[in-house]
Amino acid sequence: MPTVLGIVASQRRLGNSEVLVKEALMGAAEAGATTKLINLGRLRVLPCNGCMACVFKGEKCRLDDDVAGFYEEVLAADGLIIGAPTYFLGPTGILKTTLDRALGYLPRFAAAARKPAGVIVTAGLPNWDQLSVPLASQFALTLGGRLVGTMTAYAPGPAQALVDPDNAAAANRLGRAVATGEPLPTPPGACPVCRGRLFTPVGPGEVECPLCLVRGRLEASPEGGPPRVVFPPEAASDHRWTSERMLKHFIEWIVPTRDLFMKDFRAIREARRRYEGQG
Ligand SMILES: Cc1cc2nc3c(=O)[nH]c(=O)nc-3n(C[C@H](O)[C@H](O)[C@H](O)COP(=O)(O)O)c2cc1C
Repeated sequence: MPTVLGIVASQRRLGNSEVLVKEALMGAAEAGATTKLINLGRLRVLPCNGCMACVFKGEKCRLDDDVAGFYEEVLAADGLIIGAPTYFLGPTGILKTTLDRALGYLPRFAAAARKPAGVIVTAGLPNWDQLSVPLASQFALTLGGRLVGTMTAYAPGPAQALVDPDNAAAANRLGRAVATGEPLPTPPGACPVCRGRLFTPVGPGEVECPLCLVRGRLEASPEGGPPRVVFPPEAASDHRWTSERMLKHFIEWIVPTRDLFMKDFRAIREARRRYEGQG
């Protein structure tokens, strides 16, 4: 029986993210999963201090808070459902602060089988949330997730998303998809990996998702509307967040930064003297 972990990134008690993640967990349970819920807003999460001991010395993080316990729960889970409100166009800071503490866990996330993950974003109104789905998805993908679906519910007040029954229905469906591992269809024109719509032009008629590094082509819409982005089928499995690429980045770039720094250490120490004692 798979275990599905719900992760809420809102301080509001029974706010939109919490009720929709709970509904998704109900859907997962109906599909046979065991479920668990963690609210990041109720954990003690200190910011990463950049000491790199988790990478260079393989040490446990010395910051005394709840993050290690949280990541052990993530590693133990078979599926993830992340619910985050939109604050200032993107997910709440607690999601990023928690993610920043994941560096030392990357090899373990990469070594584990990729888990089905669902992302639930809540926001006050459309067009004020463009960063939320891609960045909440980035959290899931970094933690070893394989996105099976995302949804956005628009409602400003706590639990107001329940006024529209489609929101709870979509959350329930997403929870079932996470429990079974069966992906829901990617919305037309969205990145097949993070399901966001942040694209950078990289050539004539060609765009790239800056998060996932997959490329698609702009094609005329059959309905005569604005052009849509079409991705090749292999984009879904060949992107920045695959276990192989994550591990390669860790081993070939993150770990060697120590030697790169030490090579120039004397010159760096000399150059930074100018800034000592100011500010
Ligand atoms: C500080 C703050 C900033 C917000 N910024 C945005 C925003 O940029 N875009 C948006 O659509 N909604 C914004 N909202 C509204 C929330 O995203 C919305 O109320 C959401 O449903 C809250 O989810 P919750 O009930 O799970 O906490 C903001 C709310 C707060 C409190």
